[in-house]
Amino acid sequence: MGYRVYVTRKLPEAALSILRTAADVTVYPEEDEPVPRARLLADVAGTDAIVSLLTDRMDAEVMDAAGPNLKVIANVAVGYDNIDVAAAAARGITVTNTPGVLTETTADLAFALLLAAARRLTEAERYLRAGRWRTWSPMLLTGQDVYGATLGIVGMGRIGEAVAKRASGFDMRILYTSRSRHPEAETRYGCVYRPLDALLAEADFVVVLTPLTPETRGLIGRRELALMKQSAVLVNVARGPVVDETALVEALASRRIFAAGLDVYHQEPLPMDHPLLQLDNAVLLPHIGSASIRTRTRMAEMAAADVVAVLRGEEPAHPVVR
Ligand code: DGY
Repeated sequence: MGYRVYVTRKLPEAALSILRTAADVTVYPEEDEPVPRARLLADVAGTDAIVSLLTDRMDAEVMDAAGPNLKVIANVAVGYDNIDVAAAAARGITVTNTPGVLTETTADLAFALLLAAARRLTEAERYLRAGRWRTWSPMLLTGQDVYGATLGIVGMGRIGEAVAKRASGFDMRILYTSRSRHPEAETRYGCVYRPLDALLAEADFVVVLTPLTPETRGLIGRRELALMKQSAVLVNVARGPVVDETALVEALASRRIFAAGLDVYHQEPLPMDHPLLQLDNAVLLPHIGSASIRTRTRMAEMAAADVVAVLRGEEPAHPVVR
């Protein structure tokens, strides 16, 4: 055998066993701590493969610290903005991700956030738990209707289609904007293409699903938020920096838009003094879009299987760069 794999966090045993069929496996031992940078740089020296998470910055420095044996970096995530894919390509290192398996789980969470923000669920629960519920009251904690409303999907890929599928069950009118047209989503779920500005102006709910790239960073800024309806809800389950967080805080605080449901942030974990935490109309989750037991286990297994494929000289199933 002779291969060595470094895994930056404890993963389900099912995934580690797959890796052990092809290599000696070292796992950073702390349960829920990202590996500190200096430790990462030291630990990866001489390894053939790295299994990384979105909390690990995989740049040229890490690749060079690993050295010439490094053949593959397998990210346990569909997003791979934490990896410098150009630096990997320049060194002949394969990068893999975990598309597909998390689609439905993430779409479920996007819809849960949409419903929670529209109907003020977390605010209502805080209200009850705080002992503030004195009587039934006609306009108490009233929110926005989801059924029959207009949904705008920003970034139509697999997850976008899965969100559209759910929205069609709520009889929603579905608009989308994307780099390219998606005829299947148009035929199957009646999705209608709109340029971003038109979508923002028409939608009652805007769900952000684009990957983070130089083009999408800050895509939803002050100008874009100003185009949205005052009754609109913004949901982001993609990457925090796609939305200008300062502008979003202002839009929420001034009730320029109705609410937001967020799973991702500029800085994760969200600092406890962040102004978003002061806002009742923000539903805030700790980046759990794909967090079902089955999906997270499958993601780890997929990453492990891709590592094994590369070590055996085969094509990995989910390469993002060759
Ligand atoms: C991803 O896969 O990119 C998510 O953000 C975590 O599942």
